Amino acid sequence: MNEHSTDWWKKAVVYQIYPQSFKDSNGDGIGDINGIREKLPYLKELGIDVIWLNPIYQSPMVDNGYDVSDYYAIQAEFGTMADFEAMLSEAHALGLKLIMDLVVCASSSEHQWFQESKKSKNNPYSDFYIWKDPKADGSAPNNWGSIFGAGSCWEYVPERGQYYLHLFATEMPDLNWDNPELRQEVYKNMRFWLDMGIDGFRLDSISLISKKLEFPDNPAAVEGEFGSPYFGASNGPRVHEFLQEMNREVLSHYDVMTVGEATRTPVEEAVKYCEPSRHELNMIFQFDHMHVDYGEYGRYSDLRFKLSDLKSSMVKWQTALSGRGWNSLYWDNHDQPRVVSRFGNERPEFRELSAKMLATVLHFQQGTPYIFQGEEIGMTNAKFDNIEDYRDLEAHNMYRKFQGLGLSEKETLRYLNYKSRDNARTPMQWSGEDKAGFTAAESWIALNPNYKEINVSSALADKNSVFYYYQELIRLRKELEVMIDGTFEMVNPEDSDVFSYIRHREGEKLLVIASFSDKKISFELPDNLRIKKQQKIIGNYDDEVKMKGQELYLRPYEALVYWLK
Ligand code: NOJ
Repeated sequence: MNEHSTDWWKKAVVYQIYPQSFKDSNGDGIGDINGIREKLPYLKELGIDVIWLNPIYQSPMVDNGYDVSDYYAIQAEFGTMADFEAMLSEAHALGLKLIMDLVVCASSSEHQWFQESKKSKNNPYSDFYIWKDPKADGSAPNNWGSIFGAGSCWEYVPERGQYYLHLFATEMPDLNWDNPELRQEVYKNMRFWLDMGIDGFRLDSISLISKKLEFPDNPAAVEGEFGSPYFGASNGPRVHEFLQEMNREVLSHYDVMTVGEATRTPVEEAVKYCEPSRHELNMIFQFDHMHVDYGEYGRYSDLRFKLSDLKSSMVKWQTALSGRGWNSLYWDNHDQPRVVSRFGNERPEFRELSAKMLATVLHFQQGTPYIFQGEEIGMTNAKFDNIEDYRDLEAHNMYRKFQGLGLSEKETLRYLNYKSRDNARTPMQWSGEDKAGFTAAESWIALNPNYKEINVSSALADKNSVFYYYQELIRLRKELEVMIDGTFEMVNPEDSDVFSYIRHREGEKLLVIASFSDKKISFELPDNLRIKKQQKIIGNYDDEVKMKGQELYLRPYEALVYWLK
């Protein structure tokens, strides 16, 4: 089937499952495939169309499954291949599609390819990874430092007398995409899963697969310190050639959805990944709006975001991709802290209001919305206050790094509290019962203690819950074409508290208004915009907002969507 025959993915809403934290069915404290099977009806009730499953392949779990040691096998703690096939067919029977993570920027060092590759320079797998000779003084080939903050990107292997490249953990050597045999192995594996019936892939770190082959030092690095490897690996010289080949050889033969994770990718470059005429991927998953609260040490900071930055980032992508490419719309992710804690407000009186407001701002934009497990009940950051509670290797690397820089324990933990990836990885809060209904055992990572208040069973029992608000947003997407292909226009770029925009399509025009303030504020609609008062599409307060002429008195975190005359 032709890859763009239906574009069904433009109308879809994706739900992301982090398997180890979703639902444990066998009492070992780790979520698993049979746990997901139990909860498929819940996802159906929410109304989503596609499940994106984080990696479930065989793995030593150094990076929670992003270090794959066998791309054809299921990690035992998640279940068996038979469980996987049962899950896939049960999902399909419910009308849900399922996409998998394709993790081929690096593999695990325990993958058989690497075990062979490291033995010598002339075996069939020698060139499956990126090997370089030491500099004359024996040191690493260049100054790139690992993205996970654990020192050099290079590790020396005496058997070969060479260094291998790892952008992430030492145990995750980068695959050599310049080797056509490696590429064929990747394509073979993709066909294996596609032929089993999966509905597409989220391509992990795909903007990093092609490196500058001169492997130059990063000139921006401070003398004696490591430089960012993004400089030599982001959107490298052959990345689009590789994706076009992948499309030709594999993707174009299936009617599937593909989304490319593209970190550090400017908008003009992003278009290249997803412009249909280029035959690469369907959509891009970019991080621009996740950078608005970066600080002195990058992502690990306690800075508050500015609404003006968030708006300008989102508007930039809405505008630049319009009619050219396709965006992924997301707040939460397994690599990001919880959005209510980050851009909303966790205080009990504001948590649900701000969760709904944020959902509104996002879901009415153009692109495919992604909901990360727990977002639909307004889960918040776990904020562990003891380093022992953290499970993510990046959190531990950062802890060591900050301690090395002389930061106090308190300051270090504050940064982790705000930004650690573990904030998103605490178990799904199914109920207020012991262990939140996630497991019968000790969970692999501590639960967020607020599970007694915030959980699925209380959300399902409350018709005003965040869950039902998401359900309604998803339902509206099925009904309102303007949400899919309407044009996007900002109403108030200068406003410091309100994010407001219009979507427009053949006589249909809707207006989104969202307050990011915890106070009551006034918002004046431009004269040329007249709302149809009786036709509110959705809002997060029960009663109507007060209005005087064109002036609206917005309550804390109020979100409103109206038809315009
Ligand atoms: C991006 C994934 O989302 C993240 O969780 C992982 O650590 C890195 N890629 C490395 O694979």
